[in-house]
Amino acid sequence: MAQSNDGPEAGGAPPGPANGPSPGRSPRRVVALVTGASSGIGEAAARRLAREKLDAMVLVARREGRLRELAASLPVPTTYVAVDLTDEGAPERIRAHVEEHHGSLTLLVNNAGASWRSTFADGGWENVRRTMAINFDAVVRLTEGLLPLLRDSAPSAIVNVASTASRVARAGAGAYSASKYALAGWSDSLHLEEHANGVHVGLVLPGFIATEGFPATELRERRLTRWIVSTPDTAAEAIVEAGLGRRPERYVPRGYGLIALTRMVSPALVRRIQRGGAVSVLTTATHPDLGEEARRP
Ligand SMILES: NC(=O)c1ccc[n+]([C@@H]2O[C@H](COP(=O)([O-])OP(=O)(O)OC[C@H]3O[C@@H](n4cnc5c(N)ncnc54)[C@H](OP(=O)(O)O)[C@@H]3O)[C@@H](O)[C@H]2O)c1
Repeated sequence: MAQSNDGPEAGGAPPGPANGPSPGRSPRRVVALVTGASSGIGEAAARRLAREKLDAMVLVARREGRLRELAASLPVPTTYVAVDLTDEGAPERIRAHVEEHHGSLTLLVNNAGASWRSTFADGGWENVRRTMAINFDAVVRLTEGLLPLLRDSAPSAIVNVASTASRVARAGAGAYSASKYALAGWSDSLHLEEHANGVHVGLVLPGFIATEGFPATELRERRLTRWIVSTPDTAAEAIVEAGLGRRPERYVPRGYGLIALTRMVSPALVRRIQRGGAVSVLTTATHPDLGEEARRP
């Protein structure tokens, strides 16, 4: 259901380069849309973006109560669309909502995503299909629906939240890696294609971030591995940099870029280490693994 909450005007830090009015055009409204805003990185990104000089924000996810609560708490006029992004009609519903309530769109943050841990032998095509549906197909379809609005508002930006798993795969997370590799490759191409149209495309590649969907409990419980788990606020900062700051790519935390570099330069070494078994702890249980009943409404 589409709803709106009109809060007071946004205050806070000055806008990044994406927010400046285009020469020869009247000052325009700055509107941001965040998918997966009902928890984790998306919720943190919405809270962080609300500190920028936005005119309005749109939140998207399935849990309506969460979106309503968050929208009411933000210092920016915020509306929301409670929808399953894998639904056939989702992009059209969201586009109609943005046009009706805001008239333009300046920043699209494609953040919603999920992972079901399974080997290919156990999960098969079905696990690949459902993972691609939310992590890749839904992003491509929503972007297709909103790209005309983003071009009309240029300079504007898209931020795609991929993963370090877009560059380094782990056993038991092949479907997730496939979806995030696809997202990274498509984002790189879209970055080049839309440059001339003033639509910046930024990629954010988080490592382990403790969230509802990816609790990383196994890593946080051990002193040896606790330090590699970061926070949703750190990822939110990277999303702002990649969007309003127009950075092409950001690992979160930045050090995870070294893992991707090592995989590129020395794939045999990385495979040898991974086959050794000591790093199997890095394939952590995700929320869907723990069962829907564990999910807060
Ligand atoms: N946390 C990490 O360690 C980590 C690492 C690398 C990349 N990432 C990526 O970061 C993004 C955010 O994940 P997170 O860690 O913040 O997990 P999270 O807390 O589970 O958040 C996922 C968000 O996506 C939404 N969502 C999931 N399926 C949806 C669907 N079918 N339709 C609409 N919304 C849907 C969820 O809302 P509803 O359930 O209300 O729909 C929720 O708001 C994901 O793309 C994830 O792959 C996370």
